Amino acid sequence: MSNNLDAIAAHGGKLVNRIASPEQKQEFLTKADSLPRVELDERAVSDLEMIAIGGFSPLTGFMNQSDYKRVVSEMRLANGVAWSIPITLSVDEKVANPFKKGDLIRLDNPKGEFIGVLEFSEKYEYDKKAEAINVYRTDEDKHPGVKVVYNQGAVNIAGDVWLLERKENPLFPKYQIDPAESRKMFREQGWKTIVGFQTRNPIHRAHEYIQKCALETVDGLFLHPLVGATKSDDIPADVRMRCYEILLENYYPDDRVILAINPAAMRYAGPREAIFHALVRKNYGCTHFIVGRDHAGVGDYYGTYDAQQIFDEFEPGELGIIPMKFEHAFYCTRTKQMATAKTSPSKKEERIHLSGTKVREMLRRGESPPAEFSRPEVAAELVRAMRVPVKA
Ligand code: ADX
Repeated sequence: MSNNLDAIAAHGGKLVNRIASPEQKQEFLTKADSLPRVELDERAVSDLEMIAIGGFSPLTGFMNQSDYKRVVSEMRLANGVAWSIPITLSVDEKVANPFKKGDLIRLDNPKGEFIGVLEFSEKYEYDKKAEAINVYRTDEDKHPGVKVVYNQGAVNIAGDVWLLERKENPLFPKYQIDPAESRKMFREQGWKTIVGFQTRNPIHRAHEYIQKCALETVDGLFLHPLVGATKSDDIPADVRMRCYEILLENYYPDDRVILAINPAAMRYAGPREAIFHALVRKNYGCTHFIVGRDHAGVGDYYGTYDAQQIFDEFEPGELGIIPMKFEHAFYCTRTKQMATAKTSPSKKEERIHLSGTKVREMLRRGESPPAEFSRPEVAAELVRAMRVPVKA
């Protein structure tokens, strides 16, 4: 097999692996009780996991000050490599105070279980408002990503990390496909071009349309729903994954599509997160990445196509993954098919599309989204899963 089938290099050149070896794990376990502890929240747990499996290559740990500052101001790491979202571990000042360079810190999950180790390199204060304005384009605490920044500790602690062990995801074991594995699968399929798809919402027909338009021009489709922390009113990941299973069974060719979970947390950073999402999928081995309308957006914080335009702020080749940009897709009642304004002569009233908020409201009332918006099998599953139990 020719080497160029291993098409795309990880971001920064090398796929990172920060999962402790059996010997390292043993050593860490022996020291566990004597190490200072930091408890991670759900998002930091996913960040640790993503760093360890190489999803955040070239990061090998939580960011130091020089990386952090340049990422916030210029979307670059200190060495100039493109990176758009700070990956930081924030704690209260009194927690950070005793740490000295070279200290090993035990990282626990919210249940108090030992899951990783950080080799402390430095701590630094940071400007939350500047981070909000630069990364999220707003300083409003109503924005769910900004709210997280405002509520986290005042000091970032930096250093390389190890994940103690790679545990099987209890909810989605079959779909836990880490970057080394997805790269291998793409190679085995003989795919040279693979388009990645990020999503945090239940699949609807506009999603299906843009995925299939993209797939028409590449070899494979990597469906990569995000299953890390989302805001509380988003549809739960297990329901979304079931919708994908149902849809794949009936509407997609099984030799062209791979479904896998993305363990990362949502930041709702719109344009900046679109770049980040693309780089993560590059690490999974994708050559292309779908960016549709208001990618990773929330409320009215971003313009419909801001997340597409931001790709123009990078030199060709700097990101090393090609964005496939799609206009707002809808069902066109005039031509009786999915379309966008690029391909349909329809007037506004001939276009059927529902916002995520609208769909959630309908589901809460037990109503089914229309067949023009959602495949009936998916709609039925959503209604079933989201029905609020009526009190006797
Ligand atoms: S996101 O927060 O993960 O971006 P969502 O799951 O709704 O939210 O979107 C997944 C991808 O589909 C994103 O690239 C988004 O821009 C795109 N998308 C969603 N709805 C549409 C639509 N109606 N038309 C075009 N692209 C869309």
